[in-house]
Amino acid sequence: MRIDILTLFPNMMTMFFEESIVSRARKKGLAEICFHNLHDYSLSRYGSVDDYPYGGSAGMVMAIEPLANCIEELQSQRTYDDIIYTAPDGELFSQSMANELSLKQNIIILCGHYKGVDERLREHFITREISIGDYVLTGGELAAAVICDAVIRLLPGAIGDEQSALEDSFQDGLLAPPEYTRPPEFRGWRVPDILLSGNHAKIQQWRYEQALERTRQRRPDLLKN
Ligand code: ADE
Repeated sequence: MRIDILTLFPNMMTMFFEESIVSRARKKGLAEICFHNLHDYSLSRYGSVDDYPYGGSAGMVMAIEPLANCIEELQSQRTYDDIIYTAPDGELFSQSMANELSLKQNIIILCGHYKGVDERLREHFITREISIGDYVLTGGELAAAVICDAVIRLLPGAIGDEQSALEDSFQDGLLAPPEYTRPPEFRGWRVPDILLSGNHAKIQQWRYEQALERTRQRRPDLLKN
């Protein structure tokens, strides 16, 4: 899978992609991540890609032409399955969206900034708009990093134990059950006996009941779906 990230701040992002599972997936060739500095597509001498909004409201808007030029340059090199724009008014990101995106070959993620982008870009180039939550970030870079992380860890071979990704919270519409590791007792706090019993069927049943109870308590909204 190839992900092209269009950003005003590529330095803000590179560090994140050089660590842990994401870095390993890149080294294994499962994911290729390419950063494009939007300042390089500026039409002005000063490298700016924003301009005043028509109608006189406060703040700045990312202009359509440099962004369109960058997207079209990439499209001339390969076909993209999705051109994603990160913005607080996008569709709320979810595990099922991550699953879906992990099946794509090539995607572009455009990180929004300022008051966002010229609406014509959204209408004519963007195929999908994603928000990572009901709050406003200073820019779309963190959102793009969140999306990439959630997607890349699903690529076959990205995490050591593939079963692990399938047992994540949300994969079956439930939060994950509690987990324990050694020692079996710490300061008198014992690991539930069932987990030490070796009875696989009973353990599976216990895990399911715990997941259900945790979801009922913490995220009852998930059970309504
Ligand atoms: N840009 C600013 N806030 C955002 C959010 N919540 N999700 C995605 N992109 C954003």
